[in-house]
Amino acid sequence: MSRGFYLLFIMMIFQSPQIHAQAFEEYSGEETFHRFCASCHGPEGHGDGPVASGIPIMVPDLTLLKRRMGDEFPEAVLRRIIDGRNAVVYHGTRYMPVWGYEFWVEEGADPEAEENVEIIISNLIEYLESIQAPARDPVTE
Ligand code: HEC
Repeated sequence: MSRGFYLLFIMMIFQSPQIHAQAFEEYSGEETFHRFCASCHGPEGHGDGPVASGIPIMVPDLTLLKRRMGDEFPEAVLRRIIDGRNAVVYHGTRYMPVWGYEFWVEEGADPEAEENVEIIISNLIEYLESIQAPARDPVTE
């Protein structure tokens, strides 16, 4: 092949319309968790992922949310924390990525993407709910 042809070929690859949006809204919460969250929060959510030691603050154990935040699983609060776009950071830096924004970009950054962000975060919260440690027994613990 001539050099010109190679160049054209390479340009075609880079310019072909990207298979644009990802479809993470079709992933289960568990799959999304393993893809985006486990690196820090650990494969089972205990805060012991491979990246956790490189973060200057402790990565929370996500199986203890219910114990820490009370019996009622705090869905609205979690939604705000995970999304992050409206989060108020009280003490300095937020080390966790702003997932509402990350997913919105992954999903193609259009109005439909916003709906998919909602679905992705709902699936994640459902998964988190399924891995909560049982409530403490006041007699034995
Ligand atoms: C780069 C590391 C990192 C990744 C990846 C990450 N987190 Fe976090 N996460 C943190 C850290 C650190 C905190 C503590 C708050 C902060 O950011 O300062 C946190 C806090 C949280 C909290 C609040 C827990 C609490 O006890 O208040 C939730 C819920 C959470 N993360 C869920 C997720 C979900 C869901 C994902 C995947 C979509 C995810 N995290 C991915 C590092 C990470």
